[in-house]
Amino acid sequence: MTRRWNNPLRDPRDKRLPRIAGPSSLVIFGVTGDLSRKKLMPAIYDLAHRGLLPAGFSLIGFARREWEHQDFGEQVHDAVAEHARTPFREAVWNRLSEGIRFVQGSFDDDDAFDRLAQTVKDLDAERGTGGNTAFYLSIPPWAFPVVTKQLARCGLAESTDDVWRRVVIEKPFGHDLASAKELNAIVNDVFPEESVFRIDHYLGKETVQNILALRFANQMFEPIWNANYVDHVQITMAEDIGLGGRAGYYEGIGAARDVIQNHLLQLLAFTAMEEPVSFEPNALRAEKVKVLGATKPVRPFDETTARGQYAGGWQGGKKVPGLLQEAGFPKDSTTETYAAVTLEVQNRRWAGVPFYLRSGKRLGRRVTEVAVVFKRAPHLPFDSTSTEELGQNALVIRVQPDEGVTMRFGSKVPGTTMEVRDVTMDFGYGHAFTESSPEAYERLILDVLLGEPSLFPVNEEVELSWRILDPVLEHWAKSGSAPEQYPPGSWGPGSADEMLTRSGRHWRRP
Ligand SMILES: NC(=O)c1ccc[n+]([C@@H]2O[C@H](COP(=O)([O-])OP(=O)(O)OC[C@H]3O[C@@H](n4cnc5c(N)ncnc54)[C@H](OP(=O)(O)O)[C@@H]3O)[C@@H](O)[C@H]2O)c1
Repeated sequence: MTRRWNNPLRDPRDKRLPRIAGPSSLVIFGVTGDLSRKKLMPAIYDLAHRGLLPAGFSLIGFARREWEHQDFGEQVHDAVAEHARTPFREAVWNRLSEGIRFVQGSFDDDDAFDRLAQTVKDLDAERGTGGNTAFYLSIPPWAFPVVTKQLARCGLAESTDDVWRRVVIEKPFGHDLASAKELNAIVNDVFPEESVFRIDHYLGKETVQNILALRFANQMFEPIWNANYVDHVQITMAEDIGLGGRAGYYEGIGAARDVIQNHLLQLLAFTAMEEPVSFEPNALRAEKVKVLGATKPVRPFDETTARGQYAGGWQGGKKVPGLLQEAGFPKDSTTETYAAVTLEVQNRRWAGVPFYLRSGKRLGRRVTEVAVVFKRAPHLPFDSTSTEELGQNALVIRVQPDEGVTMRFGSKVPGTTMEVRDVTMDFGYGHAFTESSPEAYERLILDVLLGEPSLFPVNEEVELSWRILDPVLEHWAKSGSAPEQYPPGSWGPGSADEMLTRSGRHWRRP
C-alpha cells in the first residue's frame, strides 16, 4: 500500500505545502548595501534551504559595480556563509546559484533597465519564472521615485492576469506626512496598492505576531485588556550601540522618525487594536487603520515628550564617543538619539490610558518590549507594611532578545508573616519550542513571493502614523533647543523620567 505521506509534497500535514512560493524571481536594487548583505541574501538562502522557493527561482542583483554574474554569485555566497541562519549546504547553494544573475548600472541609466527587462524575460524562458517578479528597493529613499519610474518606463511594473509584478520598499517611507503622501502618490502611480509591499521588518518577527495570538487565541487576557484594568502601556525599543558609521542615514532623521513612526506605532496597533473579523489581510489592516486613526499625541509636548542625545563617556568598561564626536555628524547636530512620546488611543477601550513609546541608542541594554501595566488591586486586605514591596501587575511581551512573555504579579514571601512581593512567571520561545524562529526577512520575502500582504503596512497606515508624530516633530523643531545629553549606558535623559514621574509612574528598567 502506498502511504501518501511518504511524499512530502503530498503530505497533508506538511505545513510547508501551502507556503512554497510559485514560479518567480526577485530583483534586488542596492545589492552591495549593508541590508542586502546582512539580511536579504541570507534570508533567500534560508528560504531555499527550507525548501520554500520554487525550483526555477532566480535572483537578480542590480548595482553600479562592474561585476559579472559570477562575481555577484561570490558576493551572495560570502554573505550567506557569514550571515545565514541555517547551515550552509553545498547542494542547496548549487541549486540557488544556477539562478543568480547580475545587471550593472545606475538608477538613471535607461540602458541598464532595458537590460534588466531582457534578463527578466530570459530567465522566464530558461528557468520558468513565469515572468513573476518582485523588485526589492534596498536603496536610499531619494532613489525610490526614480527606480519606480524606470520600472514603469521599461514595462516591468505592469501585472497582467497571468504575470505578477510587485515592489518592495524599505523604510523610511517619507520623513513627514506631506513627503509620505507624495511618495505614496508616486509609487501608486506606477504600482497599484495591492502590488506594493512596504517593509516594516518588526512585523516579520514571531513575537510581534504572537501579540495577536496571545490576545485573540486566549480567553484570559482580553477581558482585562482595556481602560478598566490597564493603567498604562510602555513600548520600548532600546539599543546599547551608538551610531558610528551611520551618519549618512541618521543625521536629520533621529529616533522618532527612525523607529517610533514605524516599528513602535505598529507594536501599538497590534497591542491596542480590536479583534479583526478574520486574519484576512484586509480585515487585519482595517483594524490597524482604525486604531491608528484613533491615536493622538498627548499635550503639552514639553511635559509629555522627551528627546536626548548620547554624550561621550564609559559604557561596558569601554570609552565611547558622544553623538557629536561620531564621524559624519555635525558638531552642532540636533538629531535626537533618544525619543519618548505619550499617546492616547481615543476610543472606548482605551480612553485615558497613556501609551508611552520610547526608543534610544546607547542605552543600558538592547531590548524591545511591550509592557502592559495594570492598575493596582482596588483594595489590599493586608497591613501596609506587608505590601510595601508590591508593584503593579504587568504583562511584558519581549520582542527581542530572549523572545517570550513575562507576567508579573504579587506572591506571598515564604515565612510566618503575610508579606507580599512581586514575582514573575516566564514563557521563553527558546524553552517552549525546539524550532528556532525564522528571521523576519525570511518570512517577509516569502510573503512577497506568495502575494500575502497581511504583514505589510498599507499607505493609509503609513500616513496615519506620520499624522500622529508630525505635531511632536514640529514642536521639537520650533523649540530651537538642542536635545538633552545623556550618559552612555543610562536609560536616557532626565526629562524622560520626569515625563512619567509627573503622573506618579516610572519607566521600566528591563
Ligand atoms: N542597513 C539596515 O540595517 C537597514 C535597516 C532598515 C532599513 N534599511 C533601509 O534599506 C535601504 C538600504 O539600506 P543599506 O543600509 O543597505 O544602504 P547602503 O549600505 O547605503 O546601500 C545602498 C545601496 O544603494 C546602491 N546605490 C546608491 N545609489 C545608487 C545609484 N545611483 N545607482 C545604483 N545603485 C545605487 C548602492 O550601490 P553602490 O555600491 O553602487 O554604491 C548600495 O548597494 C535604505 O532605504 C535603508 O533606509 C536599512
